[in-house]
Amino acid sequence: MEFTVFRVLGQRFRLRTTVTALAAGALLTAGCSSSDESPGEAAGGVPVVEVGKLTTCTHLPYPPFQFERDGKVVGFDVALIDLVAKKLGVEQKVLDTPFENFKTGAFLNSGECDLAAAGMTITDERKKNVDFSVPYFDATQALLVGGKSGVRTLAEVKERKKKLGAQAGTTGESYAKGQGFDPVAFESSDAVLNGLRTGQVDAVVTDYPVVQEWLKDKAVADAFVLGQNIDTGEQYGISVKKGNDKLRAAVDRAIMDARADGTYDKLYEQWIGPLPQGRS
Ligand code: ARG
Repeated sequence: MEFTVFRVLGQRFRLRTTVTALAAGALLTAGCSSSDESPGEAAGGVPVVEVGKLTTCTHLPYPPFQFERDGKVVGFDVALIDLVAKKLGVEQKVLDTPFENFKTGAFLNSGECDLAAAGMTITDERKKNVDFSVPYFDATQALLVGGKSGVRTLAEVKERKKKLGAQAGTTGESYAKGQGFDPVAFESSDAVLNGLRTGQVDAVVTDYPVVQEWLKDKAVADAFVLGQNIDTGEQYGISVKKGNDKLRAAVDRAIMDARADGTYDKLYEQWIGPLPQGRS
């Protein structure tokens, strides 16, 4: 099992390579750099930060979008980016980075990663620092509460002065703040769930598909219930460095092709669950 730990800017990084079948296009992969500062170029002249790789920044764990299983990072986002990598004739490599990075685009700008995929919502604020692909997933926010907490809605959490938690820097946290809460901020989504489990908080606001995934675990479902599904109308996107139109176009193409040829639906069912009813 490959497991490398290295430090960048004082942060701990885990480096994993996911399995991507090398496409026939691999032959097209040029190993030398162009006028761009990127050291590599993939099929179609798309710049990459490491020769032969498509390096994805993410923030683990975020099941079902990215999480570790049997020593590998897998999930819906990982599978989608594998499609991009395949088209580019390279192999995806996943880096676990601080969530803050997704807003600032720091690791895209510094050439650490080619793109970021982290179940990340497209927001105007983030758009100031990074460019997004076409949307690839619709999400809402969910309120997960203790089964015996006696509260089911955000209004009740407020009324009964219960403690609310969220992942720092996420849209769930900003939604809660917008509703007048000062949520306890956790560093990652598993820390959010732990905060709930250990009673640090009584309820949490997190993306609905993640809560849905958590509830598949009997221990979680026995103790907690979905209090509210809050339609925030969010859409996930893959981000690239501002102005990296070649890579953005390649990502868009992979997403659109996957939607057109049924691959998207297959991956959705594999990683997320039954396709939403009435989906167009
Ligand atoms: N969709 C939310 C956002 O963009 C949460 C994303 C959290 N992602 C993660 N890998 N922990 O803020």
